[in-house]
Amino acid sequence: MSDGSERPPLIELSGIGKTFGGVTALSNVDFVLREGEVHGLVGENGAGKSTLMKIIAGVHTDYEGTYRLDGQPIQLRSTRDALAAGIGMVHQELSIVPELTVAENVFLGSQPVNGAGIVRWRHMARAAGEHLKRLGIEVDPTMRAGNLSLGLQQLIEIGRVLFSGARIIILDEPTSALSPPEVERLFQVIGRLRGEGKSFVFISHFLDDVLAISDTVSIFRNSRHVRTAPAAAFDKAGIIELMIGRGHEELEESYLHELMLPAASTAPVVLETRGLTLRGAFADFDLTVHEGEAVGIYGFMGCGQLELVRALVGKLRPDSGQLLVAGTERRLANTAAGKRAGVALVPESRRSMLFADSPIYRNVSISVLERISRWLLKPAVERQITREKIQELKIRTASENVALRTLSGGNQQKVALARWLAYRPNVLVLAEPTRGMDVGAKDDVVKIVRALKEQRMGVVVVSTEPETVLSLADRILVMRRGRITREFAGETVGKDQLLAAA
Ligand SMILES: Nc1ncnc2c1ncn2[C@@H]1O[C@H](COP(=O)(O)OP(=O)(O)O)[C@@H](O)[C@H]1O
Ligand SMILES: [Mg+2]
Repeated sequence: MSDGSERPPLIELSGIGKTFGGVTALSNVDFVLREGEVHGLVGENGAGKSTLMKIIAGVHTDYEGTYRLDGQPIQLRSTRDALAAGIGMVHQELSIVPELTVAENVFLGSQPVNGAGIVRWRHMARAAGEHLKRLGIEVDPTMRAGNLSLGLQQLIEIGRVLFSGARIIILDEPTSALSPPEVERLFQVIGRLRGEGKSFVFISHFLDDVLAISDTVSIFRNSRHVRTAPAAAFDKAGIIELMIGRGHEELEESYLHELMLPAASTAPVVLETRGLTLRGAFADFDLTVHEGEAVGIYGFMGCGQLELVRALVGKLRPDSGQLLVAGTERRLANTAAGKRAGVALVPESRRSMLFADSPIYRNVSISVLERISRWLLKPAVERQITREKIQELKIRTASENVALRTLSGGNQQKVALARWLAYRPNVLVLAEPTRGMDVGAKDDVVKIVRALKEQRMGVVVVSTEPETVLSLADRILVMRRGRITREFAGETVGKDQLLAAA
């Protein structure tokens, strides 16, 4: 059985369709997972990868098409059904319970009980410890899971799914929180378990990783399956082209090549931090942002970047250090103070700043309401401002009056940007600005950031995706455990260097 195609199909999906409200997540998709293979799944954010895997894992039970397991049509009703059939999934969002111990997390939902129904704690701790050790994860099973690094939490979660006895294991972007040695460890575990006949689906943005670990690779784009072939038949450039399609050269550049960063800006400084420190999050952070400059901050999930952006806009108060906006030291008590000082944040979670049920124009005009409150024709002005922004940012909508929730994720993100474009702060901080966007919307964000810079705004872009930072930033800081490890300015830089420094 040297040729992968001779192995029997374990899972066979055909003609799968899935919509959420009006949004198509999957359209006529076929997918086959064979026994003992590692099947890499790639595609831009929003391509439908997680949705397909959630169908396999019994999360989504309502879909079009057929699902065969071991050659038999199957209708899973729940994740419990899927687990009983030997299918386990590690989701993109961690589901570790931080208050519980490592051992309790490993056994979550399947605590060993004695005849009297009492959980056998000591037995549990020992078994969990041994299991994790076998996976190469050395950790005290009695520790609170919340005290571990995100990377370790991720490995524990993977350990839990493996421990449940799954023979089909779906890993949805498992490496985004992992450091390179942790990724190495995970790959060893996958290799060993594949040798034991387990099958994997491995979803990742890191194409080098996908090519290194997978036997077979499938590519998705905009809700559709584009191609499946043995990993050896692909190279990175070929995958990228299939993933993003033609006509997106700038994006392709940021995926594939090293970029030349422009020479250091000599424009006035709009934002500066000196030794900014928030215990447990970031320390001694020196950041300088010039007018019309976009500074990128890249780091793995949990490196302190989200706390940093909150401190920049007054949402979190640093313990020490200075923050200067346009040369004036500020102690921002809250985000309202940040806004008055001229710094605003578009957070990584749009839900926290947008009003889903309100019309688009309300979502845009909220930032400038006090400026127009004296005007008689307020609603008309609100609508007018919004119409301009809809045009400017190419927001796809019937009108400024429809409820925000009817827009796609990418267009909602543009509404979030539009709000601050209308307000024109000195500095706009963008956290994960392209998360969940399709290629076209990502291209639009590149153009929007360019327009912001032309308006002499300073921009800070924070992301865990190297491509995002590379495609948007003029200068890049790499962050690890709350500190800057490297700065890239006026030189060539690529994804590999960013990863190596993080
Ligand atoms: N629970 C949900 N509710 C509404 N829309 C969803 C839901 N899950 C996914 N989507 C939408 O389906 C599309 C595919 O998403 P997803 O499968 O998460 O893509 P990927 O994992 O490839 O990034 C996106 O447009 C996304 O916004
Ligand atoms: Mg996903």
